[in-house]
Amino acid sequence: MTDRPPNRGMRRRIASAVAALTFTSPAQAATTLGASAAESGRYFGAAVAGNRLSESAYANTLAAEFNSVVAENAMKWDATEPNPGQFNFSGGDQIVNWAQARGMKVRGHTLVWHAQQPSWAQGLTGNNLRNAMNNHITGVANHYEGDVFAWDVVNEAFEWDGSRRQSNLQIQLGNGWIEEAFRTADAADPSARLCYNDYGTDGINAKSTAIYNMVRDFRSRGVPIDCVGFQSHLSAGDNLSSYQANLQRFADLGVDVEITELDVGGSGSGQAATFKTVTDSCMAVSRCTGITVWGVTDKYSWRNDDPLLFDDNYQKKQAYTAVLNSLNEGGGTC
Ligand code: G3I
Repeated sequence: MTDRPPNRGMRRRIASAVAALTFTSPAQAATTLGASAAESGRYFGAAVAGNRLSESAYANTLAAEFNSVVAENAMKWDATEPNPGQFNFSGGDQIVNWAQARGMKVRGHTLVWHAQQPSWAQGLTGNNLRNAMNNHITGVANHYEGDVFAWDVVNEAFEWDGSRRQSNLQIQLGNGWIEEAFRTADAADPSARLCYNDYGTDGINAKSTAIYNMVRDFRSRGVPIDCVGFQSHLSAGDNLSSYQANLQRFADLGVDVEITELDVGGSGSGQAATFKTVTDSCMAVSRCTGITVWGVTDKYSWRNDDPLLFDDNYQKKQAYTAVLNSLNEGGGTC
């Protein structure tokens, strides 16, 4: 298996591994999600809507509990390039600046996706779309170079049965568009980890196996891919019997795995148990570098089934305690 050039991120991974190894005493029982994740060299993040940062309870909870952020919408194509070649980074910059002022990491979401494309891109065909995609990736990744530690380069390109989603990107550009997007992102930001991100991959199934096969092919040919994001939009009681094994098989390909959009519909002990299973799984896979929940509070979730760790009043839920205990129990592993 051809490994990617040692310089691309290898130094960073070695440094973080050494940092984790130098942690000699057992993990202390940290009292926040981010602090506990950091004890094992991981992050614990949240998706952020910039227009909520002016709400003190939102901002205070985010700053206190998390050590990483991702823009829920502000870095998507429709937000960052509303007109061809005319970039607008104000929304993303607001979140980056807020996070950096608090020493928080920033994930990038997402460079290329079939959804939330600006209308001017949706009608493009052939090389016009190809050029637009590459120009977009280059413009955004250039702008955030050094600010974003990992990009969701391509989001949601597969169907449940493992076939390619017949998006405009797939139809107009052919099967090579995903590889092309990763190569373009690598050229634009050689320092960021480059991830493929999808949902419905919460175990070994037709969809996750199709993605696995793509990643294995990319790794064998030196296509620049560093990580796979598992969105993990779940419901309490979902069958997660092969969740950890699935993460591990991707890690065994030589890529990092990240839980990128975790939320669990439900309540009480059932919801807490599902959050615990995901967190335990990440802690058990050394290349699982972190977890991001898809929002700070149920109050502003995209879902209406109270799927997050803080309720509408920013109070910690049973699921919060389950996650913190899992991080503390599994902490200290590198
Ligand atoms: O910005 C406009 C605003 O100007 C307008 O007034 C308002 C009412 O029409 O809409 C606003 O845009 C909304 C946008 O969120 C920003 O709030 C869109 O309608 C709405 O569809 C969009 O929803 C987002 C959704 O992605 C779009 O597919 C959700 O907030 C966001 O949580 C969700 O996140 C996705 C990930 O990116 C990918 N994985 C799945 C996940 C959940 O769908």
